[in-house]
Amino acid sequence: MTDRAIDVYGLTKRFGDRVAVDNVAIRMPRGQVWGFLGPNGSGKTTTIRMLCGLLKPDAGQGTCLGYDLIADSGQIKRQVGYMTQKFSFWEDLSIRENLEFVARLYELRNIKQVIDQTLETLGLSSRQKQLAGTLSGGWKQRLALAACTLHNPAMLLLDEPTAGVDPQARRDFWDQIHRLAAEGLTVLVSTHYMDEAERCDEIVYIAYGQLMTQGPVSRIIDESGLHTWVAEGPGVRALADRLRGRDGAEHVAYFGSALHVSDSNAAKLDALIASEGGAGTQWRRERPSLEDVFIDLMSQAQDKS
Ligand SMILES: Nc1ncnc2c1ncn2[C@@H]1O[C@H](COP(=O)(O)OP(=O)(O)O)[C@@H](O)[C@H]1O
Ligand SMILES: [Mg+2]
Repeated sequence: MTDRAIDVYGLTKRFGDRVAVDNVAIRMPRGQVWGFLGPNGSGKTTTIRMLCGLLKPDAGQGTCLGYDLIADSGQIKRQVGYMTQKFSFWEDLSIRENLEFVARLYELRNIKQVIDQTLETLGLSSRQKQLAGTLSGGWKQRLALAACTLHNPAMLLLDEPTAGVDPQARRDFWDQIHRLAAEGLTVLVSTHYMDEAERCDEIVYIAYGQLMTQGPVSRIIDESGLHTWVAEGPGVRALADRLRGRDGAEHVAYFGSALHVSDSNAAKLDALIASEGGAGTQWRRERPSLEDVFIDLMSQAQDKS
């Protein structure tokens, strides 16, 4: 058994003359939780669908769970749990009935026992008779997670499972992900939320089909070569327009009411900030946030494409 859950390289997919995924390599060890991030339309869903054997790559090769991506896609499908971006339920069936339906699709044996166990693991037992159509977003996502873990997969590929879910339900969902990972599951999960990215062992960032960076969050920040100053106070609104486009201010972005000004050239950035000691603004130097780094990576990718 290989110790890599995902080991692919050169992965490429075109739709017409559009390259949706361009020469992507991912090597992910078993048992970890990795985040998959990148702007909309960057190829996350397409990559995930290739990894779980649903979409044939135009180029590239490799293995998932030790099985060849192309030759053994049937094995991969059986051992991977894939949660699609838009999971659909039978709204007029209960949680339990929905799971029974999925269990029959997978031709599982001991259906009652498997469903009891899954309901228990995901904290759904007390709601099993509730109609899926009446569930809140957070509970629906939990049902979706139950559905994609029923067949006892070795790896989960979750495509934006918490999009549009409220913060508490997102935290609960992530507690479940970590619980499953503690039992040995490998999880690759796409998300737009930075707090979720920070809960991952490593992240993969893709923009316009190209893999821009990969690694633990702290290393990605360290290796970005980016420097950041943060401004707060009543003067900040006017500041943003004044700084945009200036030498030393490659990226000017609001984070709540604070303004982040980042540049890869520390000397130019410092000089610019020194010249901007405006009244009503407090400046502090900060370690770039993951989002500062993503803004930078996204603009690098835009320059290339
Ligand atoms: N079935 C398809 N046919 C044509 N174009 C597609 C198809 N699926 C995805 N694309 C295009 O491929 C690119 C990547 O899409 P996708 O993988 O869904 O990105 P993401 O999940 O990161 O938002 C987009 O430009 C999208 O429009
Ligand atoms: Mg997508």
